[in-house]
Amino acid sequence: MGSSSSLVPVASVLILLLCCSGLTTGTNAAAAGSGGLKLNYYSESCPRAEEMVREEVRRLYEEHGNTAVSWLRALFHDCAVKSCDASLLLDTDAAAAGVVSEKSSPRSFGMRNFKYVDAIKAALERACPGTVSCADLLALAARDGAAALGGPADVPVRTGRRDGTESFYADAERYIPNHNESVSAVLERFKAMGVDDAEGVVALLGAHSVGRVHCSNLVARLYPAVDGAMDPSYGAYLRGRCPTADASEESDTRDVAYARNDRVTPMVLDNMYHRNLLKGRGLLLVDQRLASDPRTAPFVRKMAADNAYFHERFADALVRMSENAPLTGDQGEVRKDCRFVNK
Ligand code: HEM
Ligand SMILES: *[C@@H]1O[C@H](CO)[C@@H](O)[C@H](O)[C@H]1NC(C)=O
Repeated sequence: MGSSSSLVPVASVLILLLCCSGLTTGTNAAAAGSGGLKLNYYSESCPRAEEMVREEVRRLYEEHGNTAVSWLRALFHDCAVKSCDASLLLDTDAAAAGVVSEKSSPRSFGMRNFKYVDAIKAALERACPGTVSCADLLALAARDGAAALGGPADVPVRTGRRDGTESFYADAERYIPNHNESVSAVLERFKAMGVDDAEGVVALLGAHSVGRVHCSNLVARLYPAVDGAMDPSYGAYLRGRCPTADASEESDTRDVAYARNDRVTPMVLDNMYHRNLLKGRGLLLVDQRLASDPRTAPFVRKMAADNAYFHERFADALVRMSENAPLTGDQGEVRKDCRFVNK
């Protein structure tokens, strides 16, 4: 009798251990409050959701390679402003919902391919109306975009995010770093986003191994003199790409002309970004600063030496960034059209 009743507390301790170790292991961002997200959230409500996103991202990548590039930047901009809630994707719709879009912030300059978000969402809506959130769409598309570009494959992105009902135009400039930010400010912003290590930041900025930068974000490093941290021959090349120094010149091309982020492997998400930094061939001032700041430089060197290591750290940091303060449960909504809150 006595021995059987003493089994009860033992069993409940065991159950407690099993239950709660499951909650804390295997989730990177428990501290950032990602509770509610899980792998394959749509396995019952829309079993092919992740497959459909992957197929659409693939199809679009084959038509327009730079769509895959856009998904990476879009996820960063969405998650940097408050949470990964697709606030980025809302259109300015002042009359109906009082929305002023983050897309119209100066920080969003150069963002493209939003119309293809609509294509991915349309495929999901056809199969599973009103089920898969735009916030999850962005996270999954970034994962699949990275893979299409030769980055890490099968990044374990969790799902279950809900869509917000606001866009935070004014906060975009506050939370998304500028091209000439200090390393301290950049580390601070990423910390607030759940990426609290310099290594994760150095990995994530490796996204600048693909895509382009408009000259407006570069000319301060080229004129009147080429930045001393830049390889002079690269400076000469970039001056050729960006001939206008400032607005006083009669045909100012700074907002239309651009340079590739990585001249060597422009469409591959690889460690050429870090290798370029070591040669003084970073484009943005913040990029180049990662190679000289003592907090970040060791990781630049480590990733430059080992692409597989870069991929591993990139995957880890991407997951953490994608889990910044998501709306879950009955918070927010699932938008039918990523551009507008449901009526
Ligand atoms: C300190 C942080 C960052 C700053 C200051 C920054 C800034 C910028 C700027 C100024 C551009 C060029 C925009 C243009 O002129 O067209 C750009 C492009 C881009 N950024 Fe970042 N970025 C940062 C972090 C990130 C992160 C974390 C990601 C993704 C993981 C990312 C992905 C991209 C991509 C893919 C492009 C190319 C977009 C295209 O070609 O359409 N960036 N970024
Ligand atoms: C950063 O660049 C912007 C223009 O893009 C400029 O207005 C600002 O003064 C610069 N900030 C610093 C600290 O140089």
